[in-house]
Amino acid sequence: MILTYYINQLKIMNKKYNSIRLTTEKGIANLIFNRPDQLNAMNRQMMDEIIDCIAVVSQNEDIKVAIIKGEGRAFMAGADIKEYGNQTREEFKSFQERGKKLYDSIWNSSKPWIAAVNGYALGGGFEIALACDLIIASETSVMGLPEVFLSLIPGGGGTQRLIQKIGINRVKEMLFTGNKYSAKTLMDWGIVNTIVEFDSFDAAVMKYAEKLARRPSNSLAQLKRLANLSLTEMSFNLRIEDEGQTVFKLFYEEEAQLAIRDFITKNKTE
Ligand code: COA
Repeated sequence: MILTYYINQLKIMNKKYNSIRLTTEKGIANLIFNRPDQLNAMNRQMMDEIIDCIAVVSQNEDIKVAIIKGEGRAFMAGADIKEYGNQTREEFKSFQERGKKLYDSIWNSSKPWIAAVNGYALGGGFEIALACDLIIASETSVMGLPEVFLSLIPGGGGTQRLIQKIGINRVKEMLFTGNKYSAKTLMDWGIVNTIVEFDSFDAAVMKYAEKLARRPSNSLAQLKRLANLSLTEMSFNLRIEDEGQTVFKLFYEEEAQLAIRDFITKNKTE
């Protein structure tokens, strides 16, 4: 057990990235976009590093919760438009395909991923936040899908994932206008979970993550899986059946049996 922990730690410490950083503390991973002078705009190298990092974090059983944030005044201002200008057709195709893998790997990871949006989260940056399970935003953060200004559309699930989350009319407004939205508006629309003051942002995000990290990983994984299933085409009856089978399976795992016994013992002695 201890040996596995140190092997996992070594795997993380040996990771060398250029455009992102990965730190871990108390079972919580921090994936930090690190191109602050370019507002963390995502180029190909950065995208590849993010995909690698998500896999490292997702496979590490000592990590309970993952946070994504940006260095400097942005979470991420979207895809690197300057690099777009030099991409061949093949490179752009590959960028889009790799992008899908990035968003899907957060969505399908068994761990909870928190987007800690500290500033601009635009285009692909906002789509990464949408692929996360929870969004904690600083009060001064700004989010949106401005692709329409480039005669483009979002390519990372922005049109579909967002419609499922906030409804078609609000999404059409966001997509058609390309407007930037405050954390407050997006909280009212149900996308942002919590707004935190800018000065205490990192500490508040960490406190939130620590709370989740204390919850049993097997329950969290199943809760995430089942919640995400609700956005698929699977029928309601099948999803309810899945829920029933999952609770049955969890009930007979050691963690649940111990927790139930603990509860009963504590109540008897009090
Ligand atoms: N791609 C490439 N570079 C970007 C970028 C992006 N998506 N977003 C910002 N940058 C770069 C700027 O070119 C600038 O670089 P420079 O100093 O080398 O010129 C640097 O980041 C700072 O950005 P700047 O525009 O000067 O900051 P600002 O505070 O005036 O404006 C934004 C901030 C986010 C409103 C503005 O940068 C912007 O609109 N970015 C594009 C957002 C976008 O369309 N995203 C979707 C892409 S598909």
